[in-house]
Amino acid sequence: MTALRSAAAGPLSGDIAVPGDKSISHRALMLGSLAVGETTITGLLEGEDVLRTAAAMRALGAEVLQRADGTWRVQGAGVGSLVEPAQVLDMGNAGTGARLLMGVVAAHPITALFTGDASLVRRPMGRVMTPLRQMGARFMARTGDRMPLALAGAATPMPITYRLPVASAQVKSAILLAGLNTPGRTTVVEPEPTRDHTELMLRHFGAGVTVEDGAEGRVVALTGQPELTGRPVVVPGDPSSAAFPIVAALLVEGSDVLVRNVGLNPLRTGLLTTLAEMGADITVEGGRVEAGEPVGDLRVRGTGPLRGVTVPAARAPSMIDEYPVLACLAAAARGDTVMEGLGELRVKESDRLSAVAEGLAACGAAVTVEGDTLTVRGAGRAPRGGGRIVTRLDHRIAMAFLVLGLATDEPVAIDDDEAIATSFPGFVRLLNGLGGRITAPEPATAGHR
Ligand code: S3P
Repeated sequence: MTALRSAAAGPLSGDIAVPGDKSISHRALMLGSLAVGETTITGLLEGEDVLRTAAAMRALGAEVLQRADGTWRVQGAGVGSLVEPAQVLDMGNAGTGARLLMGVVAAHPITALFTGDASLVRRPMGRVMTPLRQMGARFMARTGDRMPLALAGAATPMPITYRLPVASAQVKSAILLAGLNTPGRTTVVEPEPTRDHTELMLRHFGAGVTVEDGAEGRVVALTGQPELTGRPVVVPGDPSSAAFPIVAALLVEGSDVLVRNVGLNPLRTGLLTTLAEMGADITVEGGRVEAGEPVGDLRVRGTGPLRGVTVPAARAPSMIDEYPVLACLAAAARGDTVMEGLGELRVKESDRLSAVAEGLAACGAAVTVEGDTLTVRGAGRAPRGGGRIVTRLDHRIAMAFLVLGLATDEPVAIDDDEAIATSFPGFVRLLNGLGGRITAPEPATAGHR
C-alpha cells in the first residue's frame, strides 16, 4: 500500500497513448480460449484484472502466453473444450473477469470455485447467477450471492430468453458466453443499450449473432455451438482510461494534450458527449475502424472552466465508469452538474456514489446525493483540495482524485495506489510525463532539533 499526493501543476502538454481496453482484453482472452487455433492479441491491457483472466484461462486448459514482441498468443481447442481447474480461480479485483467467466464455465460440465479480493467479494453476483441457473448451472455462494462461490456448470445447458433487469454489459455477456456452448438460440433483451464488445468480438471469431431493435429494447441473439476460429485481435486504447488525462487537461487551463488510439465505440463515448455539452475543446483526429472497433486520436485543450450540465440517466451505460472523474471536473465548472440514474455506481469496485461525494466534500466541493442523483455545485474554479481520499480498493476513485489534485490549491492525497494497476499500469508516470505533479507524500516533519 503506497499513499500518493498530487499537487497543482502548470499546463499539461504531450502526445500519449493509454493502455488497452479492459473490456475488450478480457473478452479477447476468453474467446481466444474458446476458438480453434491461434489468436494473436495486440495491445492487450497488461493490468492486474486482465492478468487474472489470463491465469484463469490457463487454469481452464487454454494456452495463453506473452511473446517477446509484446503480443499475446492464445491457443484454444474450441467451444466446450475447457477442463476443470485444479485450483480456486482468484479473480482479484476484476468484476468483469469474474462475471464473464462464470458465463463461460456455466455451460461446461465442470465445477469451479471463484474468489476475489476484499472489494470483489462484496459485489453482488446474483445478477449473473439468476440467468445462468435458468440455463442449468448450479451455484453455492456465500450469503446467497457473493464470492467465494462454487459453480457447477450444466452438462446439458438450455437456451434462454432473458430480459436484463439492470443495464449491464457484464450480465449480457455472461449469458451470451454461456450461450456459446448451448444448443439453439440464446437471446438477451436489453432495455438500455450497453457496450457491445462481446457481440462484435463473437462475430469477429465467426459466431452468428443478430441484433435487432424490439418493442422492449435491443434484442441480441446468438446461435449456440458455433465453430469459433482463432483470429488476430487489435485492442484499442481504453476510453475509460483516456478519461483521466482528458479531464486533467480540461482542469488545468492552457493544457494541450493528444491522446492517441482511443477506442470510440459509440456505446462508450457518453463522457465525450457530456464534455462537448460542457463546452470542452476536444477534437477527434484520424478516425478509423480497427478490428471492428472505431478508434481515433483525441486532441484536448484546457480553455478554462466549463459549464455545468444535466447528464440524463439514459446516458449512464455509455459512461458508467467515467462518473468519478466527471464529478471531479464538475466541481471546477460554472454551475451545477446533475448526474442522474447512478444506482449502479453503488455496486462497482466500491460504492462510488458515496466515495465521490465524500471525497469531493473533503476537498471543499459542494455535493449532494439524492436517491440515484449526484449533484456537484461547480464554483467556476477548482475546489480548495487538501482532502485525504480513502480509495477503497477502487482504481477509478484513486485516479479521479489524483487528477483533481492537479488543479486544486492544496494537494489531494490518496491512501493507497495499489488498485490503479488493475486497469492503468503506468498511470502516474504518464500523467507526470505531461507535467503532472503526483508524488509520494512528504514525510511528516519531526519538528526542529
Ligand atoms: C464492463 C461493464 C460495466 C463496466 C465495467 C466493464 C464490461 O459493468 O462498469 O467496468 O466489460 O462489460 P456493468 O456491466 O456491471 O455495468
